[in-house]
Amino acid sequence: MAQLGVGIIGCGNISTTYLKFAPIFKSLKLVAVADLNMAAAETRAAEYGVRADTVEGLLAAPDVNVIVNLTIPGAHYAVSKKILEAGKHAYSEKPLVLTLDEGKELRDLAEAKGLRVGSAPDTFLGGSHQLARALIDEGSLGRIIGGTSHIMGHGMEHWHPNPDWFYQPGAGPILDMGPYYITNLVQLLGPVTSVAALTKATFTERTIGNGARNGEVFPVGTPTDIHALLEFAGGATVTLGASWDVWKHRHANMELYGENGSLFVPDPNFFGGTVETTEKGGDITTVEERGHPFGVTNQEGNDGTARANYRCAGLADMATAIDEGRPHRCNIDLAVHVVDVMTSILKAGAEKRFVEMTTTCERPAALSPNEARALLV
Ligand SMILES: NC(=O)c1ccc[n+]([C@@H]2O[C@H](COP(=O)([O-])OP(=O)(O)OC[C@H]3O[C@@H](n4cnc5c(N)ncnc54)[C@H](O)[C@@H]3O)[C@@H](O)[C@H]2O)c1
Repeated sequence: MAQLGVGIIGCGNISTTYLKFAPIFKSLKLVAVADLNMAAAETRAAEYGVRADTVEGLLAAPDVNVIVNLTIPGAHYAVSKKILEAGKHAYSEKPLVLTLDEGKELRDLAEAKGLRVGSAPDTFLGGSHQLARALIDEGSLGRIIGGTSHIMGHGMEHWHPNPDWFYQPGAGPILDMGPYYITNLVQLLGPVTSVAALTKATFTERTIGNGARNGEVFPVGTPTDIHALLEFAGGATVTLGASWDVWKHRHANMELYGENGSLFVPDPNFFGGTVETTEKGGDITTVEERGHPFGVTNQEGNDGTARANYRCAGLADMATAIDEGRPHRCNIDLAVHVVDVMTSILKAGAEKRFVEMTTTCERPAALSPNEARALLV
């Protein structure tokens, strides 16, 4: 198959993951990196043996077909728009954009130019989430009637040296972490039709707890404690808790309740983990893995445990889909719908009411073990 020449704009923290994992996928040929900060681009280029370019140079580069947008969330829309205007396919880190209008504009622009837009997260392509998907699709759980999903902690100012932006509009637990959980719910259950929420910021200021700015206090400008209800077109009702105000909790990352049993899904922020299920009210049992390559551990996590990490899988699927003339899984309709859900949760909380979705999407196609294997070198 034809390889796509890949460029990256944004050479910060997450760029090392993309530069490390792109070479394990057949359809991707890493070519060049760029950043507003040329020194950052030069550092990454030297580390990974690719070309350092200016942003304008990369946008014009004839050997680059797709550009990965790894800039900060507030720059995603403008940078992805520039990529499309330059006639190249775009693949963005999450969240795709910060408003629904921005998402629709990118979708229209891509369509008019015959280009693809893809967006992280691609963790739902991981072995565990595809196993959960297969169990739902096989039907033994019956219709999924509801569930819960929780993303809770006490934020990142105790370890992150520059945590300010996480607490401003455009971030917060819903826009920063919500994409993993909501995208996985949509791939498992289908699109959302309406949401309600209660939202607040318990702490109006945060204090940096490490690094050069240790002790500095900054204001919080967005809700950090969100309790939402999601109604799915398929009939399921899911409670979503997203908070950076909680020290400890005992909620599972994701539980789904079917007519004939329950399904326990591991953290959608990662590709792997244990899937458990019950047959009606029977014991909770671990579901045996089915040899999905994107569940195989290949990395040590921050806590020292072995982890499966196949970031770039969504990008590789998009490159293969372009070659094969089929839809890609981490597509713009899915990403725009997830932006609609997230921004509607914040709106529902601000206005204390139900908000109807104005977008919808297809569930992305399941990714079988064989299809996943075919993406790898
Ligand atoms: N860091 C992580 O672990 C992680 C994990 C998953 C997803 N993400 C997502 O990836 C994206 C990047 O995160 P990060 O942690 O790497 O951020 P970062 O701040 O470390 O790096 C961002 C880089 O983008 C550059 N940049 C900003 N605006 C630009 C512009 N307009 N044009 C060109 N370059 C620009 C900056 O100079 C910087 O080098 C975010 O959307 C984040 O949500 C990060």
